[in-house]
Amino acid sequence: MKFGYFDDRKKEYVITRPDTPKSWSNYLGSTEYGAIITNNAGGYSFYKSAAQGRFTRLRFNSIPMDQPGRYFYIYDIDKKDFWSASWQPVGKPLEKFKSECRHGTAYTVIRSEYDDIVSETLYFVPLNKNYEYWHLKLTNRDTEKRKLRIFTYVEYANNWNIQQDMNNLQYSQFIIKMDVIDNIIDHGTNVFMPPRPDDFQYSDQARHTFLALSGSKITGFDTDREAFLGTYGNYSKPLALERGFCSNSIAVGDNGCGVLQTDIALNPGETKELTVVMGIGKAEEEGRKALQELSHPDKVYAEFRKLVDYWHNRLEGLTAETPDELFNSMFNTWNPYNCMITYSWSRAASLVYSGERDGLGYRDTVQDMLGVLHLIPDEARERLELMITGQTSTGGAMPVVKPFAHKPGCETRPDEREYRSDDCLWLFNTIPAYVKETGDVGFYNKILPYSDEGEDTVFMHLKRAIEFNLKRSGKHGLPCGLAADWNDCLQLGHDGESVFVAFQLRYALHTFIEISDLLGEHSEKQWALSHLNNLDENIKKYGWDGEWFLRAYRADGLKFGSKENDEASIFLNPQSWSIISRHVNQEEGIRIMDTVKNRLLTDYGLLICDPPVENTDPNVNKSRVFNKGMKENASIFNHTQGWAVIAEAILGRGNIAYDYYKRFMPARYNDTAEIREIEPYVYSQFTHSKYSPRYGASRLPWLTGTASWAYFAASQYILGLQPDYYGIKISPCIPSYWNKVSVKRIFRKKLLDITILNNNKKECGVKQIILNGEKIESDFIPITKLKETNQITVYIE
Ligand code: GLC
Repeated sequence: MKFGYFDDRKKEYVITRPDTPKSWSNYLGSTEYGAIITNNAGGYSFYKSAAQGRFTRLRFNSIPMDQPGRYFYIYDIDKKDFWSASWQPVGKPLEKFKSECRHGTAYTVIRSEYDDIVSETLYFVPLNKNYEYWHLKLTNRDTEKRKLRIFTYVEYANNWNIQQDMNNLQYSQFIIKMDVIDNIIDHGTNVFMPPRPDDFQYSDQARHTFLALSGSKITGFDTDREAFLGTYGNYSKPLALERGFCSNSIAVGDNGCGVLQTDIALNPGETKELTVVMGIGKAEEEGRKALQELSHPDKVYAEFRKLVDYWHNRLEGLTAETPDELFNSMFNTWNPYNCMITYSWSRAASLVYSGERDGLGYRDTVQDMLGVLHLIPDEARERLELMITGQTSTGGAMPVVKPFAHKPGCETRPDEREYRSDDCLWLFNTIPAYVKETGDVGFYNKILPYSDEGEDTVFMHLKRAIEFNLKRSGKHGLPCGLAADWNDCLQLGHDGESVFVAFQLRYALHTFIEISDLLGEHSEKQWALSHLNNLDENIKKYGWDGEWFLRAYRADGLKFGSKENDEASIFLNPQSWSIISRHVNQEEGIRIMDTVKNRLLTDYGLLICDPPVENTDPNVNKSRVFNKGMKENASIFNHTQGWAVIAEAILGRGNIAYDYYKRFMPARYNDTAEIREIEPYVYSQFTHSKYSPRYGASRLPWLTGTASWAYFAASQYILGLQPDYYGIKISPCIPSYWNKVSVKRIFRKKLLDITILNNNKKECGVKQIILNGEKIESDFIPITKLKETNQITVYIE
């Protein structure tokens, strides 16, 4: 079943029926002022942090699942009928209520038609502003004049700290103070306390937001939630709408809301527009100023244009036209956009991540950045530096880096039991990717502090990361499991050993050798080489289980991911990473990935492990806490799919690589959205596997490492565009039935206009590249040969 379609030209996803199986959401704003909005105008807004700066409410895990939000109620004064400009919350019968929602790049438009009144609401945050616009356009399609009354609705948090607002009611219900100043609603919390702008995390400080209306005269208001909704009312039937007008309530304590009432009369065919502006600051200061900036509706459209241009220009840095339109929709818009959103909000703000997780989880954040390096290289460098300063002088990482509170050089070193074994090893993926994207080779020599004490060049930070794992190696000479490796559920114990991390460490050493070569650090290279050889031997001796690689050992020798195990006897990650780390050769790799195919492939992707865990002690494998077929317990864990695609592409098997890519590609399920249920334009953490009665349903959209790895796999391995220190390699690995692909990429400010021709229906192998009419002898184009604009034709074998 279909609920919408991709409008690629506008870079929008259009939802044509509002009763989607789950709320389908979008994000507005930036890392300064963020917001979530669903196809029914549900959602919430936050300043800087979804946990510490949450100023409007959403009731999580409730039914309907996305309420409240940012609503316009429309009341017909003569008929005494009312509805909302989005299908929900009033929820008129769908035979009478037509609606279309367009989710775009940081904006959403909800259009509806009911009883001859057409409404169109555009929601967005203007660039560099700490406020959001809800611009409503109303048109009368009736032959009669219509007299309408419009009510806004938003529900406020009593404290910007979400935990305080949700749980500490004996306190938080008494610190809110609403006001209406010059027709602008002022939402204040802790207003008698001094503001402490330099201590953003401190929750007991005075804070204000405002809500104003432009374009139509205000005829009433409510700021007390119960006064508007009624103590036994609800969002679909607010008391004020049943009565037909507001009661001009002012909340002092209890709960606040933002309702402004305005009357609009429309002659047949007439259209009128009004704009709500809601944002950070006091009504009489920032509120007034924001209203002044909104002198005319054209101003809204001008700001909107700027926003669209900004996003579309960013996304134009890498686009592709392949024979698969769904790939194009994902690759050109939704996947990079998903990467940007994940980068911005980490695991803190969605309909599922309720804000309880704040701060930047080390491993997740370092991986998330891989998807945005070419879009925002400078911002990404700053984040990368932040994360590098989250490494302690031991070489391990702080599990979470708090962007507002982090003080490099002054942080307490984590207890040895808190270190994760994989955290800093992800730097070997992201730092070189940043340097290769930008050519900023000097970054390796940049001196940055450790989180606790001391400082080093980035190059030496990397060396410390390797030393950290080498020093914490177990009985078999493989890196220890510590508190966790990438898989949060495996209970390896501090001294257990992870074969997956062994491959990461191999990748790290291999990468370190490459960087040492680049920097002319010969003795460092020798150091790394000897460890690499040693590690390879240990992996060969102790990592191999006969047909596939083991997942891990516990310190007492208990194996994970072995044929000796009845449950979870094979894991995907060590197999794909044996290839990614270049531990195995082509022939071995093919054998391993064939086993993966036989053992782990399902309709919707590869299982994280098989069989599921049903009897294993949760003290051995905590994934036992999950129902089988979900999360780490034998689901299709989508984060891992990109690695399988990369592994197959390294092996040159373009058909299999693309087949795997497609199985977890959201757009592929556009026509069967009733199975996948979540947004067909967004990646998710996992899909229920064949072991679950919900086989095929996906969960935890938006904020997931799946987005960056899917994008990295598509750009660097399927399309094969691999930036390098002094040029770019182009080595596609595509399905044999793709005969032509066009790619446009901006690389170090130069435009590469690439045509890949595959006349012989091969899957990989570059026969020849023609760069601006000149033959290139290999698949590598040196930067020195690139002009401002370049025509490049790549012939596959
Ligand atoms: C979740 C976590 C991530 C972890 C993965 C596997 O996605 O955010 O850190 O690596 O689960 O357990």
